[in-house]
Amino acid sequence: MKRRTFLKGSASVLAASIGHSVHATASPRDIRASSGTAQIAPSDYPQTELWAYNGQVPGATLRFRQGDWLEARLINDLQEDTTIHWHGLRLPNDMDGVPGMTQEAVAPGASFDYRFQMRDAGTYWYHPHQNSVEQISRGLAGVIIVDEDEQSDVDGEETLVLQDWRMTEEAQIHPSFGNRHDMSHAGRLGNYVTVNGQPEVKGSYPEGARVRLRLVNTATAKILRIALQGWRAWVVALDGMPLGAPYEAETVEIGPAQRVDLIADVTAVEGDEALIASVERGGTFVLATYAVTKGSTTRPAPAPLPPNDMPLVELAPARTVPLVMEGGAMRGLPSGAVWKGEKMDARALAEAGQFWAFNAVAGMTDAPLVEAALGETIRIPMQNKTAFPHAMHLHGMHFREVMQDGSLGPWRDTLVIHGDQTREIVFVAENPGDWMFHCHMASHQMSGMMNWIRVK
Ligand code: C2O
Ligand code: CU
Repeated sequence: MKRRTFLKGSASVLAASIGHSVHATASPRDIRASSGTAQIAPSDYPQTELWAYNGQVPGATLRFRQGDWLEARLINDLQEDTTIHWHGLRLPNDMDGVPGMTQEAVAPGASFDYRFQMRDAGTYWYHPHQNSVEQISRGLAGVIIVDEDEQSDVDGEETLVLQDWRMTEEAQIHPSFGNRHDMSHAGRLGNYVTVNGQPEVKGSYPEGARVRLRLVNTATAKILRIALQGWRAWVVALDGMPLGAPYEAETVEIGPAQRVDLIADVTAVEGDEALIASVERGGTFVLATYAVTKGSTTRPAPAPLPPNDMPLVELAPARTVPLVMEGGAMRGLPSGAVWKGEKMDARALAEAGQFWAFNAVAGMTDAPLVEAALGETIRIPMQNKTAFPHAMHLHGMHFREVMQDGSLGPWRDTLVIHGDQTREIVFVAENPGDWMFHCHMASHQMSGMMNWIRVK
């Protein structure tokens, strides 16, 4: 594995530090979105101008117990509208943070109060749902952790927030946000990944230590492949939701917006290192290094985390609503695709900044893709006819994948569908309201891959 390099290539030695955790139960907490600067590049580079929550990149980790209330006031000190979307949380619709759908956008100088109860334990995150390519890419993202009632038997915990930056040689955010190439290809891929706002985090654990790892991919485009070396690790939760049966893994794929929780035992020996790295085209780059000290603990394989209260999914009564995903470079849109209620040819759509369509419609539709009765079960086979992967995300509810053999996969809120794949999801419409259903590759979302589901 290589040390992480950045542009001209220097490894830096910075202490691991994640924003302090805050219990937000009792008193309301201000979350101020503003511009600022921080040293996210290696130390021989200048500071980077960023947009941040309370001056921190990533924003503070908000930590709760199941059943706690989040009470937060978003104060907008940016020069443009914003909101906060609480990604992956099953919350009341009017707290979901989608401008023009669940709330008015928060104007510069204005504020908005969010208040809702933490129904599910797990690892979630928060980010703006306005001008997302730019606002997330400039640094607006933070993690939410909801602890289970019974603490799992671990010696430590590491939350690794993975952010993908497109940097100039002066370590500034590249201002190519509405780039048509990104929109019509794989999205705004960066050239620099940070962990908790640093080039690399460092720490130390004794031999045999058991650590809860929470990996969060806040990238707007990059699918990360994370490798563990010097660990024996089990995946225990995906997108916050515990797995019934944890499974062992040496590498995990994490699409944009996804989370993977692992329980990992240090197998490296004293004097060695336990590493977490990103496997990329240019090589395998170390993101986190833990020096290993003398120790002795060994434990049996971890038990599953306590489950969240999820609805029973039955396929028999389900209604099927297919989704066909088209467009992008190499394939293009079908002729006569519709945008804002009008049939247009692909060239006119491209001029309007639209490169993708769901069921031959680019962008939001007046009528939802699905209008579900409360409690109804909906299956959505998603046929990706494009040449690119897409990270499909449903707000407000989690879904399960219907596997080829008819069995049900783990609960998720975001699913990566690679080019030319068809993958099917099923969910119980348990949460009333209007919910976005879109590609979380933000450049795709803004250029056509957006739809919504109504539950009533
Ligand atoms: Cu992470 Cu529409 O959201
Ligand atoms: Cu996409």
